[in-house]
Amino acid sequence: MNFKELVKKNRSYRGFDHTRKVTEEELREMADCARLAASSVNIQPLKYVLVWDEEEAAKVQAVTRWARNLPEITLPHPGKEPTAFIVICQDLEIHDNKQRFVRDVGIAAQTILLAAVSMGLGGCMIGNYNREQLIDVLHLRANLEPMLVVAIGKPDEEIVLTEVGDDGRTEYYRDEKDVHYVPKRALQDVIL
Ligand SMILES: Cc1cc2nc3c(=O)[nH]c(=O)nc-3n(C[C@H](O)[C@H](O)[C@H](O)COP(=O)(O)O)c2cc1C
Repeated sequence: MNFKELVKKNRSYRGFDHTRKVTEEELREMADCARLAASSVNIQPLKYVLVWDEEEAAKVQAVTRWARNLPEITLPHPGKEPTAFIVICQDLEIHDNKQRFVRDVGIAAQTILLAAVSMGLGGCMIGNYNREQLIDVLHLRANLEPMLVVAIGKPDEEIVLTEVGDDGRTEYYRDEKDVHYVPKRALQDVIL
């Protein structure tokens, strides 16, 4: 797979094959890629909680919210939840300004997902979660602020990239066969 194919394949997956467990080693490899990525002034305040235990993954799943655009559908569908998570945290003892490192968080999350796709897996960034419950579930120490949850698993759904039409709508949608469509703005519309 060349790089652009990897980028295209790296979608926000919300349905996973539950029989394919993600291992600790695979998660460690993804975190290893993230730690090598760019960081503002190379301060590297991010730390990673790896979740692959079934019970713990179910607890993390329970405090996350998925697909705000599709409130009428329960996603992931029951039985298709991710089997692992990487929770990106900021170590406030390294730097306590949370706003300053939100870009680092995005870079780390994208690096984790690209690594996952390169390993035949995939995932979804989850910014919509209950912070207090997540801290509780993961027993996070006070110096660790959860910044973004990255769900990981073996994708088990079809996603199609489309182009944003004349109506300008960017909302993702699903058809009756549960195929997920993601409109992207055309190249000529994003180059200034
Ligand atoms: C910072 C960030 C936070 C996100 N949080 C959520 C979330 O809480 N729940 C969810 O279902 N999707 C979440 N997403 C996924 C987006 O909905 C998704 O990127 C968008 O629909 C485009 O789909 P694509 O990633 O396949 O291109 C998030 C994406 C980003 C970049």
